[in-house]
Amino acid sequence: MATAVLGLQWGDEGKGKITHLLARSALMVVRFNGGPNAGHTVIDRGVKFGTHLLPAGVFYSGVTSVLAGGVVIDLDVMRREYEEVARHLGHGPVLLLAENAHLILPYHRILEELEGSGSRFGTTRRGISPAYCDKIAHVGVRVGDLLEPEQLRERIAWRLDLLRREWPQCEELRDLDPTNIVRGQLELAEPWMGCIVDASRVVEQALATGDEVLFEGAQGALLDVDWGTYPYVTSCSTTFAGIGTSLGIEGSSIGSRMGVTKAYQTRVGEGPFPTELTDGIGASLRERGGEFGTTTGRPRRCGWLDLVALRYAVRLNGITELALTKLDVLEGLPTVKVCCAYRVGGETTDRFPLSGDRLAECEAVYEELPGWKDSVEADTWDELPVAAGRYVALIEEATGVPVGLVSYGPSPEETLRRPL
Ligand code: GDP
Ligand code: IMO
Ligand code: MG
Repeated sequence: MATAVLGLQWGDEGKGKITHLLARSALMVVRFNGGPNAGHTVIDRGVKFGTHLLPAGVFYSGVTSVLAGGVVIDLDVMRREYEEVARHLGHGPVLLLAENAHLILPYHRILEELEGSGSRFGTTRRGISPAYCDKIAHVGVRVGDLLEPEQLRERIAWRLDLLRREWPQCEELRDLDPTNIVRGQLELAEPWMGCIVDASRVVEQALATGDEVLFEGAQGALLDVDWGTYPYVTSCSTTFAGIGTSLGIEGSSIGSRMGVTKAYQTRVGEGPFPTELTDGIGASLRERGGEFGTTTGRPRRCGWLDLVALRYAVRLNGITELALTKLDVLEGLPTVKVCCAYRVGGETTDRFPLSGDRLAECEAVYEELPGWKDSVEADTWDELPVAAGRYVALIEEATGVPVGLVSYGPSPEETLRRPL
């Protein structure tokens, strides 16, 4: 049995909570994309963690955690996070690193500042796009290179030389020393030198056991480098297709594709957002939902649920089941709105455009529904307030996919599961 957990919006849908919940009985949990730009909140036995690189299954002793080839790894972030989790658990979890995963090196963060993408696109400033650029331009450094330190030193010296010629005035680049970078990376990676693996084979073997293997996505479909709101996107494949390229497996054995969506919409960073609420309702969603970035602490922009975007994300991923999070945050509103179409150039359309600039021209067309005063905290589906139940049914109807999980709080217990 294999399940992919995939974000269907602009990230922060609650993938960490859902993966952690499903990982209890898993053999393996695999992070397949992104890097420490991700922030996945997990509440493990009452203690809150914001995980950036470690898969959310790392908290269970029976689980093997894997960082796959499509991830960009900052060893400093990984090691600090690992030590924090190990202190909490009282032992170090099993963590395998794909030999073809790329490393984020000290010059990547410097480059991101020099290129100005932090202010232009509102990136997380974690060196993500420079690390992926190096990968694509054949000048990246991979986890497996740590096993050949002399070659690694030469590779980094060559890359630094190129960068210094490109940015001759940059003192920070001038001050970097390849030997020190290699020494630093080897020190950080030391506990995992025996855990560098061909992740494709490891995952294939795990899938063959028939036990539960989870694939944890970072970011969300609308941030996908190819299919998101380009150029206001991240630098990798965030959709189901990313699993195949990250792991060198074809995805047909991953039958369950759980799409995670909030009951409303959020976005952190720049980019178009047709249902954004800049009024008091938006502010109250942010306040009630605690909508501040897990990685950067930035306030998240909030708005009504966008069903045009959700339908698109469901199609891109081949979603089989939805996990609807943060339904509690909408409690107490007299009415709730959902965007069911866009108006653009005098026409109404239900198509999600392929570029950020086209999306910026779209105006949301809303359907308004009655809200609910009562709490959505429920043990069974029938206990949901009637209007909340109708809201869930509308999402199912619009997407053609059943809602199998409703989340009404950050803790794992605050989840309602519907037997499908
Ligand atoms: P991820 O990146 O998709 O894992 O999501 P984040 O962890 O960045 O953001 C989700 C936030 O919502 C976190 O603070 C979670 O603790 C919180 N959260 C998750 N599910 C719920 C829910 O159903 N209700 C409420 N109120 N908070 C939730
Ligand atoms: P999780 O996994 C929300 C956004 C950034 C920025 C854009 C590009 O927690 O859902 P990057 O640093 O990736 O080059 O920034 O993507 N972004 C996220 N937004 N949640 C995330 O991850 C994000 N990862 C990147 O805010 O707009
Ligand atoms: Mg997040």
